[in-house]
Amino acid sequence: MKVFVKRGEALQEFEVPRHPSQTVLDVVTYIQRALDPTLAYRFACRVGMCGSCAMTVNGAPRWTCRTHVDRVLKDETLEIGPLRNLPVIRDLVTDMRGFFDKWERAGGHFEGARTRHDDFARVSPASREREAADAGIECIGCGVCYAACDVVSWNPDYLGPAALNRAWTLMSDVRDTQHAQRLRAVAGDAGCHACHTHMSCTERCPKHISPTAGIAGLKRAVAKAAMKGDL
Ligand code: SF4
Ligand code: SF4
Ligand code: FES
Repeated sequence: MKVFVKRGEALQEFEVPRHPSQTVLDVVTYIQRALDPTLAYRFACRVGMCGSCAMTVNGAPRWTCRTHVDRVLKDETLEIGPLRNLPVIRDLVTDMRGFFDKWERAGGHFEGARTRHDDFARVSPASREREAADAGIECIGCGVCYAACDVVSWNPDYLGPAALNRAWTLMSDVRDTQHAQRLRAVAGDAGCHACHTHMSCTERCPKHISPTAGIAGLKRAVAKAAMKGDL
């Protein structure tokens, strides 16, 4: 197959042999190991756990270690580039700092009330809150949803689907003690109300998470808090 790799402003062409069950990450690794050792790209686990291998493949953001070439090849050709909406460090490697800074801005870390000396909290798997938290918890921080979101392109300050999904997951966690602060953090202009419900994040998330649903939950929670005068 022909593979075009975006390197800065240029597209570099490579010829790569096909194999059964070949993934896009296998293709990039072949290029780097056999054809051009200067190609920069990022991966760690190769099994869909670490979230570090996401790239733009034939126009769409994807996790490359779990994307089979057969599924995405068009006219025996692949075009591979870095993720959209993030600064490029080199070739296929993007700078994820802004992405994770937004998780922090959205209150994306857990703060509980118990210490290591207390018993485990028990939250029923059947409770509404637990179901809402479970729906978003498997996020691997790959940035695919963030690259797919047009609002992030228009407004680089927008917290984006992954940070807001994280915020909603924690808002649904009954053990967390920071609900009021987190709600304030996501209520501003760059927060949940900036989402236009385009659904691109939900369509593209490789873990089948719906950041759109989480953002809708945040909008409802912000509205409720505003009505009660709690914001
Ligand atoms: S639903 Fe919201 S966060 Fe998701 S892609 Fe659309 S605008 Fe972005
Ligand atoms: S919500 Fe999905 S697409 Fe977005 S960072 Fe998490 S796993 Fe990746
Ligand atoms: S290499 Fe870890 S998710 Fe792809």
